[in-house]
Amino acid sequence: MTPVTTIRDLRELARRRIPRAVFDYGDRGSYEEITLRDNRADLDAIRLRSRVMIDVADRSTATNIVGVPAALPLAIAPMGLIGLFHGDGEIHGARAARDAGIPFCLSTMSICTIEDVSDAVGEPFWFQLYMMKDRGFCASLLERARLAGCSALVLTLDLQIQGQRHHDVKSGLTVPPRLTAKNAFDVATKPTWILSMLKAKRRSFGNLEGRIPDADNLTTLSQWIAGQFDPSLSWKDIEWVRARWPGKLILKGILDPRDAMTAATSGADAIIVSNHGGRQLDGAPSSIAALPEVVSAVAGQTEVMFDGGVMSGQDVLKACALGASSCLIGKAFLYALAANGYEGVRTAIEIIRKELDISMALTGVTNVKDVNRTILAPAGNR
Ligand code: GLV
Repeated sequence: MTPVTTIRDLRELARRRIPRAVFDYGDRGSYEEITLRDNRADLDAIRLRSRVMIDVADRSTATNIVGVPAALPLAIAPMGLIGLFHGDGEIHGARAARDAGIPFCLSTMSICTIEDVSDAVGEPFWFQLYMMKDRGFCASLLERARLAGCSALVLTLDLQIQGQRHHDVKSGLTVPPRLTAKNAFDVATKPTWILSMLKAKRRSFGNLEGRIPDADNLTTLSQWIAGQFDPSLSWKDIEWVRARWPGKLILKGILDPRDAMTAATSGADAIIVSNHGGRQLDGAPSSIAALPEVVSAVAGQTEVMFDGGVMSGQDVLKACALGASSCLIGKAFLYALAANGYEGVRTAIEIIRKELDISMALTGVTNVKDVNRTILAPAGNR
């Protein structure tokens, strides 16, 4: 078998191993996918400065993320339906992240529950919350996350209303899910995936199942969720969360420097520069283009994390050079999980770690905490 050497290899394996509708849900973006493409293109356009004759024998990629030591400046982004990419996917992902020494964030819309993951992993993980109209339900999720020992809360700010993903509408991976003859045929050709689903503990929105009156399956729960996104959300709601969450708070989905300044003064421990992986406002700037302005607006008041197209250690290095303290991976994680479960995710993190380590050395840096703009070549110096 050809060795897996890049995240691209894992994407290709994932494409062959899981149903098209699920793959596309993870792989694609909203509307014309301009922002999705820019996330990658703008990272690719940055050039690094190659340095020689600097002693780089002793190197470290270790850092702190919201005050907690991590083996590299990387975390697994919150994503819904991870458990559809591989049976019990959230558990495999959280274990792989734990064993690699980086944080894993569990989504509200996960298949495995908060309690499933906490029982299986036995180490703190992060929990992501969508502010839903049913604040009582949000409060109960926060309480469950606290009892499970979650070490940080990631609050998603950029999904008050959902951007349309044409591929999901066409494939039937919508609210409610639609089974088409084409889907059924495609699924039938993915036996490993079917087996992994059959063996899985759950196949619905675990955190919600059995807790919402009159909604007890994937279809009715999906309908409930669709009616729960709250377009009236405002900064006042951060206070509501703060009053119920004593732990670390990370605000995700910031692109504009004005929003970044407000977020920085809201008591957040970190913000995440993100355009939701190109899945929300199509035409928004790429995350990497937005990063420098956000970093300068925040002026060190809070940690600035980065997500949006990260597929390699070079990407992590570029984001750190532009002021990110750490990065999150979404799609890269999904490809890895779909390709080979726990092992796939370990492979992906190791690929990125090695790429980061070697690229640091080739830019003359020995400690990832020292990375700054001086490693960028003029063409990439935005
Ligand atoms: C939900 O957050 C999604 O992007 O599908």
